[in-house]
Amino acid sequence: MPERPIKIAPSILAANFARLGEEVSSAEAAGADLIHIDVMDGRFVPNITMGPMVVTAVRRCVSIPLDVHLMIVEPERYLEQFAGSGADSITVHLEACAHLHRVLGQIAELGCRAGVALNPHTPMNALSEVLHLLDVINVMTVNPGFGGQRFIAGMSNKISQLRAAVDERDLNIDIEVDGGITSKTLPIAAAAGANVMIAGTCIFGHERGIVAGIQELREAQISMGVK
Ligand code: DX5
Ligand code: ZN
Repeated sequence: MPERPIKIAPSILAANFARLGEEVSSAEAAGADLIHIDVMDGRFVPNITMGPMVVTAVRRCVSIPLDVHLMIVEPERYLEQFAGSGADSITVHLEACAHLHRVLGQIAELGCRAGVALNPHTPMNALSEVLHLLDVINVMTVNPGFGGQRFIAGMSNKISQLRAAVDERDLNIDIEVDGGITSKTLPIAAAAGANVMIAGTCIFGHERGIVAGIQELREAQISMGVK
């Protein structure tokens, strides 16, 4: 396996929103590499969460990059607002974009890293014509919409095929896994070739707190000999 540092991206979906500033600051102090922000519209997914105001608020509390995951229809209508709120990367769903190629260009023009998320049913080869436009691929390891679901183990094949395609073309693309990441599933995802671990419940919902949650994931990573 090539040397590829693993990044940990706490997902604030599982945070205590009454104390969001403290929670993200504590995640940053505990060594989080990114903060993952799940935007849901009640249409693309059956849940409504947060919008650009929350991105602005989090931006004021941490200096690590903000990874904004748009689970919304017509994401092109909101790219400018999210970029203006402080998003470093903006990820849209392939299934929500009739004109994905154009949307990826718009994200790049706004100065953000461009990402695409794939629902569990979407094959990796759906990305073949846009791979060179991507900075981030989010492989959903649950059906999007809710935190606290079980990791779909069958997604490992998709991750490893994507990693092979990215490496073969010598592209610099982060492969994220999103959903059901724990100290048990992190090693599976890392072994398949993912390098960004998005985790909500096992960090913000950890019984001994956020620091312990991040520590547990780092230990799982170290125990498999990955940096
Ligand atoms: C699910 C979201 C995930 C979610 C992960 O639709 O995209 O980012 O927060 O949460 P856990 O880690 O609880 O599965
Ligand atoms: Zn997400």
